[in-house]
Amino acid sequence: MRVGQAASLMVLMAIGIVVTACDVVASENQPAPAGGPPAGGPPPPPPHTMRAEMVEGDRLSSGMSGEALYSNRCGACHFDFGMGTNLVTKQQLAFGNPPAMGLLTNREDLTADYVKAVVRMGKGAMPRQTRVDITDAELEKVAAYLGKGK
Ligand code: HEC
Repeated sequence: MRVGQAASLMVLMAIGIVVTACDVVASENQPAPAGGPPAGGPPPPPPHTMRAEMVEGDRLSSGMSGEALYSNRCGACHFDFGMGTNLVTKQQLAFGNPPAMGLLTNREDLTADYVKAVVRMGKGAMPRQTRVDITDAELEKVAAYLGKGK
């Protein structure tokens, strides 16, 4: 391809990008559909977004429950549709266990020590969680909450 041809191709591509961008802007300015929002309001958010809020205060002697701490600190990955749930579900299916075992809260085989080790050291695709992510006091509670195995 000659230099002249390449240059005119570039100009054509640039015009194409500008035209496409204008289309996007134009489509954002459409009026809202007639009839308004669906009756009864929007549906509730999916469960994986409904995590407990962190309580303000001393995180070295947290007053929050293990359940609430697990929800807030681990729920983004370990609730429904989380990337942790997806991976653990695959592993549990490979072990011949039902898909519900992808949720750590359904597991009977986890021990508190195992939970603490995985959280502090990470495991495969799970990044290790520092003492800023979850303090030792908070982790004790989460481990006790999940650790139903002996
Ligand atoms: C960034 C996402 C993410 C966060 C946050 C996260 N995890 Fe995980 N977790 C994963 C993934 C992904 C796996 C599967 C790792 C693998 O096997 O490759 C996993 C696996 C685990 C396992 C091992 C399960 C098994 O069957 O061996 C435990 C236990 C665990 N997580 C506990 C926790 C706890 C407790 C927290 C909160 C303190 C937490 N995780 C926070 C992504 C996360």
